[in-house]
Amino acid sequence: MRETLRIGIAGLGRLGQRHAEALALGMPNCSLVAACSPVASEREYAGQLPGVKRVCAELPELLQDPEVDAVVLVTPTSLHADQSIQVLEAGKHLFVEKPLALDVADCERVLRVAEKRPAQVAMVGFVRRFDASYRSAFAAVEAGEIGRPFLVRSQTCDQNDPDGFFVRFAPTSGGIFMDCSVHDIDLARWMLGRPKATRAFATGTIALHPGLAASGDVDNGMAFVEFENGARAVFYASRTMAHGHETMTEVIGTAGKLLVGEHAARDRVVRSDAHGVRHAVLKDFYERFADAFRFEMQSFVAACRGEAPLTLTLQDAVEATRIGQAITRSLRSGMPESI
Ligand code: NAI
Repeated sequence: MRETLRIGIAGLGRLGQRHAEALALGMPNCSLVAACSPVASEREYAGQLPGVKRVCAELPELLQDPEVDAVVLVTPTSLHADQSIQVLEAGKHLFVEKPLALDVADCERVLRVAEKRPAQVAMVGFVRRFDASYRSAFAAVEAGEIGRPFLVRSQTCDQNDPDGFFVRFAPTSGGIFMDCSVHDIDLARWMLGRPKATRAFATGTIALHPGLAASGDVDNGMAFVEFENGARAVFYASRTMAHGHETMTEVIGTAGKLLVGEHAARDRVVRSDAHGVRHAVLKDFYERFADAFRFEMQSFVAACRGEAPLTLTLQDAVEATRIGQAITRSLRSGMPESI
């Protein structure tokens, strides 16, 4: 293994620029050497990042570069499956943002290619598995501190964005459950010991953004999932919180429960005065998970360098899509859906 893992990134939007900066500005054992985007202003931005030698408009050009060992895909979800296959077939390690794809057949196509190339790392960005609080909760579950975990209640709630970024994002994101709840789905499987999901029911409403109807999406959604061993999960996702970003997960077991991330507190300061008792709020997912995104990328680099195997597998990502798809079908049919 070379001294430094040389990384190329594709997609330089809302999240891609943050990954690019983390990789370019001092992450150990790797350097960002190439970037790709169809948007001229994004290519110009990438060209100014330290270490970036190649900037191109098309992924195939980046993949032909022998100076690139690994590729980070932060492109629209609808492109993930085909681009992941192109990356793997070019002999590069793959990091692809979540979800792996919007349907199970596409996920399985990627899985089949990855299985033929076991020497290459293939990782999906379920960032919450790299968050210190979620890791601590998982360690407690594994140590048996709450007995047998049987119920997960988990939510991903974003502050309302009057600009409606996610309304424009909806046609390629797969909708609120595939975009937001897919994190909660992966957490539930992780905390519950990867049980097989059997049935899902979902409902939702449009509280503030009628433009979502054209994509069959909602801005507030709720889902119930049943698993084979009697375990259950309840998910809530919202795009319309007035106060801030609020990600919360409760894991309930036979001998106790764990709660990660109650409220949207930005720090540990509580202000009390004549107006009441309050704390500052997190404004978005990145503010909440910035450290986790960094640790996630460090874990990818370590896996590519053969230093530490990944516990998060591509099969986990396939199962998250399988459950997310069933939930989305139920939202649209109004009926429980088999998984
Ligand atoms: P975005 O729309 O802001 O950015 C998408 C980027 O892909 C843009 O730079 C666009 O120019 C580029 N692009 C489009 N077609 C391309 C192509 N053919 N080749 C190369 N680049 C191309 O979207 P955003 O919010 O950055 O999301 C990107 C991905 O990251 C999505 O899959 C999303 O689910 C995921 N994501 C994950 C989060 C997490 O918590 N782990 C949070 C936010 C996004």
